[in-house]
Amino acid sequence: MRVLAIESSCDETALAVISGSGNAWFLEKNAVFSQIAIHQKFGGIVPEVAARKHAETIIPLLTETLGENKLADIDYLAVTAGPGLITSLLLGVTAAKSLAYASQKPLLPVNHMEGHIYSNWLSNDELKNNDKNYFPSLALVVSGGHTELVLMKGHGDYQLLGTTLDDAVGEAFDKVAKILKLGYPGGPIVSKLALDGDENFYDLPRPMLNSGDYNFSFSGLKTAVLYTLEKEKNITQEAVKNMCASFQKVAVEILVKKTIKAACEYKVKSVLLAGGVAANQKLKTGLQSVCDKNNLPFFFPELKYTGDNAAMIAAAAYYKLQNHLEQTLVGKDIFNLGVKSNWQIFNK
Ligand code: KG4
Ligand code: ZN
Repeated sequence: MRVLAIESSCDETALAVISGSGNAWFLEKNAVFSQIAIHQKFGGIVPEVAARKHAETIIPLLTETLGENKLADIDYLAVTAGPGLITSLLLGVTAAKSLAYASQKPLLPVNHMEGHIYSNWLSNDELKNNDKNYFPSLALVVSGGHTELVLMKGHGDYQLLGTTLDDAVGEAFDKVAKILKLGYPGGPIVSKLALDGDENFYDLPRPMLNSGDYNFSFSGLKTAVLYTLEKEKNITQEAVKNMCASFQKVAVEILVKKTIKAACEYKVKSVLLAGGVAANQKLKTGLQSVCDKNNLPFFFPELKYTGDNAAMIAAAAYYKLQNHLEQTLVGKDIFNLGVKSNWQIFNK
C-alpha cells in the first residue's frame, strides 16, 4: 500500500509518501516547505499570507517530490482536513480533492492532532514493531493551538482526559517571547535563552496544578510574566534569561505532573509526547525522569517530526487504512469533503 499525504494546516506546506504492508512500512518521501521566515517579520502567522504561499508552493512541491509520474504508483491520498487555519487548510484539501478525483484514487481526511500522535511511530522502531504491547497509552499533545491529554486505547480509539481552558502551552511560549520582544516562534528562542537563566529566580504561579482534573490553564502564567516584568525598572539581558528559565520550569512542571498523574490513574502501558512543543528538551527530560521512576516506557518524536509535516499525516492514514478504521471518499463523494477548522477527534 502506498499513501500520499498532504499537510497545509498552518504555515508549513508538506507532502509525504509512506509505503509497505503491516508493520513493514517506510517513509519513502518527505518534503516540507516552511514559511516561518516569511511570517517572522510580522511577529506571528498572517493567515492570508500563509494561504497565498501554500497556493504557490503546493504543486511545484508535488512535482519535485513525486517527479513527472506524480500519482501513478499511489494507492491512496490523505489530507489534513483540520484543525487549523481555514484558509491554509483549504489549499491542501482543494489540491488533494482535485488530485484524487482526477486520478480516481480514494481520499482519506486526517485529523492534524492525530497526525502529531503518529509522529511517534515514525521515530520509534520499538513502538512501530510492537505497538500492541504499549496500549493503552497516554499521549500529551502540545502545540501552538492545543494542550491535550489523550488516552489512546488502540489505533483510532481515543478518550480526551483534559485540555487547556485558555491558551495552549506553545501559545504561552510564543506570547512570553512577544512580551520579552524575542521574536517568533517563541518556543525555540525561550528554551534556548532559558539554558543560561536561573529557573528559580522568579516565583511564578502554577495555575490548576492541583485542580484535581486533567485540564490546563496557561493564560494566567503568561500574565504573571507580564506583571512581574512591569515591576522591574530595567529589564536586563540577565532578567530576560531568568524569566525564560522560570517560565519554562513552571510550564514544564505543570505538564509533567498532570501527565504522570493521569498515566498512573489510567494504568497505561506507555506515555507518548507529540506536537511542536515536543521539541522542548526540558519537557522531554522531565517526562523521561517521571516515566523512569514509574517503570513506564516513554516515546517522543525526533526533532524533524515535532513540527508540522506530512509524514505524520501519512502514518496516521496508513494505520487507519490498514485497520479499516475509516471509509475513504471516492468518485464524486470526494467533493463533499470540507475543511474542519475546529475538528475535535478526541471525545470525552
Ligand atoms: O505543532 P506545531 O508546529 O504547530 C501547531 O500545530 O501549532 O507547534 C508550534 C508550536 C509553537 O507555539 C512553538 O513556539 C512551539 O510549538 N515550540 C516550542 C519549541 N519548539 C517549538 N515550544 C517550546 N519549546 C520548544 N523548543
Ligand atoms: Zn501542529
